[in-house]
Formats: sequence, structure tokens, C-alpha cells
Amino acid sequence: MTLTNYLLHTFDSTKSRITHFIELQTLITAYLLVPSLLILISFLITYFWRYIRLQCSKSVEGRLVLITGGSSGIGKALACKYAELGANVIIVARTESKLQNALDEIEQAAKDSNKQTFAYLKCDVTNNQNVEEVMSELIDLHGCPDTIINCHGAAYPGYFMQQEHSIFEVGFICVH
Ligand SMILES: NC(=O)c1ccc[n+]([C@@H]2O[C@H](COP(=O)([O-])OP(=O)(O)OC[C@H]3O[C@@H](n4cnc5c(N)ncnc54)[C@H](OP(=O)(O)O)[C@@H]3O)[C@@H](O)[C@H]2O)c1
Repeated sequence: MTLTNYLLHTFDSTKSRITHFIELQTLITAYLLVPSLLILISFLITYFWRYIRLQCSKSVEGRLVLITGGSSGIGKALACKYAELGANVIIVARTESKLQNALDEIEQAAKDSNKQTFAYLKCDVTNNQNVEEVMSELIDLHGCPDTIINCHGAAYPGYFMQQEHSIFEVGFICVH
């Protein structure tokens, strides 16, 4: 075999080895690497999601949350959620019977009712003096709230020009 033939032969066999190697690599990528990467990514997303949820629940645990309008609707739903996450919840509204019923529901939703505090304060937020009295009572009994959520209010659906003047008074002049 001449040197030229020898070199050509070696080149051919190396070329075919490289071709085989590339085919093998493509197969591995298609059947092993891609599915493994997909599984890994889904695990990472699940883990990250759980971590975020845990951090969110930890961030309200043991905190004092005051919710006005907490005896019904959005306010009550939020109060139950905070109770579920371990917060201490105080709700504020005017009607005592609704407040008591809501408090029972909130206690049932609690993460650990033995460690958490739940209470209601009867207050009309349109009355400045009433608000001041109730706020000082709250601070004396439970300390300063970490979070205050204002959910009180009422909706009066209708056309602007047909609304009673009293509704505007309630809506615009009321909250202290
Ligand atoms: N639900 C919705 O889809 C929606 C959408 C956009 C905006 N909003 C607004 O979000 C707020 C809450 O809605 P919601 O559906 O949860 O209403 P809701 O079920 O009627 O609850 C209103 C709460 O506010 C209390 N409240 C009303 N006036 C008060 C006052 N002067 N002082 C203290 N507490 C007072 C009520 O209790 P007492 O009556 O016993 O005081 C009750 O606990 C309203 O302002 C509503 O307009 C609601």
C-alpha cells in the first residue's frame, strides 16, 4: 500500500466513524436528552411553585390583619384565606350578628386556631369618632395591625343621573 492510499484509507475510516458518532449523538439527543430535560424542567417548575406558595404562607403567619367589611363578601373571603395561612384576623363591620357568624367561619378556616387570634370590632367607618374609639380599642387589645385591608362598602347599581344625592354622600364623604 502506498502512503497516499494508506492516508486515504485512514481518512475514509475516520470519516465514517465521525458519521456514526454524529448519528449516535442525534439518537441520544432525541430519545434520551430531550425527554430527560423536559422531566427536569417540570420538576423544577413544580418545586419552584411549591417554594413560592410556602414563602407566601410564611409571610403572613402570626401577623395581625385588620379587615374592614370582613363580615361578608370579599372581606370575609379574605379573612378566611388569611386565617388559613396562619394570620391573626380582626374583622370590622356594623352588624353584630353578621360579624359573629363570619367569625365562626373564619375560625373554622384557621390553620391552627389554638395559636391564632380572631376577633371582631363593631364599627361604622363613616363615623370618625367611632373609628377613633375602635382603633384605640384594637391597639390596646391586640397591638398595631401589620396589614389593613379596606373591604367595606356597598354597591348601588344604576344610571349616574338617576342616583340619589344621599348615595353620593355615602360614597364620597364617608370613609375615615
Ligand atoms: N363583589 C363584587 O363583585 C365587587 C366588585 C367591585 C367592587 N366591589 C366593592 O367592594 C366592596 C365589598 O364588596 P362585597 O361584595 O364584599 O360587599 P358586601 O358583601 O356587601 O360586604 C360589605 C361589607 O362592608 C360592611 N360595611 C358596609 N358599610 C359599612 C360601614 N359604614 N362601616 C363598616 N362596615 C361596613 C358590611 O357589613 P355591615 O353592613 O354589617 O356593616 C359588609 O361586611 C364594596 O364597596 C363593593 O362596592 C365589589
